[in-house]
Amino acid sequence: MSVSNAQSQIDLHRELAPRYAYRYGLEFSRLFQQDWHAEMISHVPSGARRVLDLGCGTGFFLAELDQKHPGAVGLDISFEMLKVSEKYIPGARLVTADAERLPFRMGSFDVVFCKGSLHHVRNHVKFLANCREALGKEGVLVMSEPCNDNPLIKLARAILYKKSPHFDEGDQGFTRKGIIGLCEQAGFEVVKARKYGVLAYVFAGFPDHLGVLKYIPGNAWITRAFIRIDRLICALPLVSLLGFHIVIVARPRGAG
Ligand SMILES: C[S@@+](CC[C@H](N)C(=O)[O-])C[C@H]1O[C@@H](n2cnc3c(N)ncnc32)[C@H](O)[C@@H]1O
Repeated sequence: MSVSNAQSQIDLHRELAPRYAYRYGLEFSRLFQQDWHAEMISHVPSGARRVLDLGCGTGFFLAELDQKHPGAVGLDISFEMLKVSEKYIPGARLVTADAERLPFRMGSFDVVFCKGSLHHVRNHVKFLANCREALGKEGVLVMSEPCNDNPLIKLARAILYKKSPHFDEGDQGFTRKGIIGLCEQAGFEVVKARKYGVLAYVFAGFPDHLGVLKYIPGNAWITRAFIRIDRLICALPLVSLLGFHIVIVARPRGAG
């Protein structure tokens, strides 16, 4: 990562830390995020113990991982984001570092999770190659990143990233083909690529950006309904183009 991008991510996320705390504080938004986490966790192979959340931010996902896999490690470039984690996981195992220079020995983890962090770096292959090194031979990378297969979503995202002070203009989503290609360049074999998040993603996921649902009675019920509808949408080949994220499950190439 160039020094300037590393610094702009640190500056950006210093401002964002309180917004994340708010986001994860609302019941309906938490419900959505927990479903997203459950989708990612469902790909963890049985017997996996050593878990890393790369770009863990304020640690809400890490707290869930730590419950299931005690000792889960969270790494983030933003100390301000990590500071919020204490609220969810007192005594969490946190590391402030750049994902492009990971401070771990080869094969330190059985699973590496990345939820929305890859698109913040500029050298995606380097980031992914580091994930590969951090994983043992039988390890698994579980990643969820913004997906731009749909031209309208791509356009909306480009405008948002350009205009909003809460995004970095250089961040960008991936096409399914593009992100699979990056994983392959980094020495992974992609075993699953699934779209995730449509209605619940838009209306429940980010109340700090779009807060309309918080004024509507029964918002938790509505969120649950949206989650079910989204699951159907994302399971169908053509309409899954409406998915805002893509969940990737990948294994180091050549693994048993
Ligand atoms: C969109 S947030 C997602 C946070 C968290 N995974 C979540 O879902 O709430 C992206 C996170 O990636 C972190 N990040 C950006 N660039 C990074 C880098 N080079 N190394 C490590 N973390 C980075 C940011 O500080 C931020 O916390």
